[in-house]
Amino acid sequence: MIKLAPSILAADFANLQKDIELIDKAGAQWVHIDIMDGHYVPNITFGPPVVKAIRRHTDRVFDVHLMIEDPDRYIKDFYEAGADIITVHAETCTHLHRTVQYIKSLGIKAGVSLNPATDLSQLNYVLEDLDMVLIMSVNPGFGGQSFIESSISKIEELDSMIKATGKDIDIQVDGGIGLDNVGRVIEAGATSIVAGSAVFNSDDPTETIKSFLEIFEESR
Ligand code: DX5
Ligand code: ZN
Repeated sequence: MIKLAPSILAADFANLQKDIELIDKAGAQWVHIDIMDGHYVPNITFGPPVVKAIRRHTDRVFDVHLMIEDPDRYIKDFYEAGADIITVHAETCTHLHRTVQYIKSLGIKAGVSLNPATDLSQLNYVLEDLDMVLIMSVNPGFGGQSFIESSISKIEELDSMIKATGKDIDIQVDGGIGLDNVGRVIEAGATSIVAGSAVFNSDDPTETIKSFLEIFEESR
C-alpha cells in the first residue's frame, strides 16, 4: 500500500487542530511532521510540546522527520510526544547504526533520510535494520521548492537495493511532489509520499488529498 503523508509544514500553524482533523477525515494514512532546528537546516519549526498537542486530535501515524543536529538528544522526547516513526538524516548522526537501534529500542519505526547530494552507500550496513528510507527530492529546510529530477534514478536504485534484502522497507520521497509528478515517483518505487504545499496551498486540501489517494489506487 502506498501511504500519503501530508506535511503540516504548509498547514496553518495558528490552527493545527483544524488541519490535523482535515488530514484524518480526508483519509491520508500518515501525518508528516517536519522538525527543523535552525542549525542543520536554515529554518526553525517546533518541538515535542506541539507534537504532543496535536497527538490528541488524530490516531493517524505520526511520521516525524528530524532535520536537527545530534538527534539522539531529542529522540526520546519525540517518542514520548507520540511519534510512530522517527527519521533522522544520515548526515547528522555520528553513529548512525547506534541511533537506528536506539529508535527501534523504543518500540517505534526507524527511518534514515538522505539529502539530494548524499550517496545511497550511506545505507550500507544499516539498510536491513530500517523500516524506511527517506529520499529528499529537495534540499531540506523549506516547503514549496521544485522537485530535483535526479531523485528518480536514486529511488529506482534504492528500490533494487531493498528488493535484494527481501525486507519490507518503505521508500519515502519528500519535496516538490504534486498531483502532476507523483505518478512518476511511485513508478520509480516510492511507497510513502510526502506533500506539503501541494495539499495545503491548494484551493481544496481535502479534495487534493483524495486525488492523491485515487492516483495511488490506480497505480496498484
Ligand atoms: C522540507 C521538508 C518537507 C516539506 C515538503 O525540508 O522535509 O517535508 O514540507 O514541502 P513541499 O511538499 O511543499 O515540497
Ligand atoms: Zn519532511
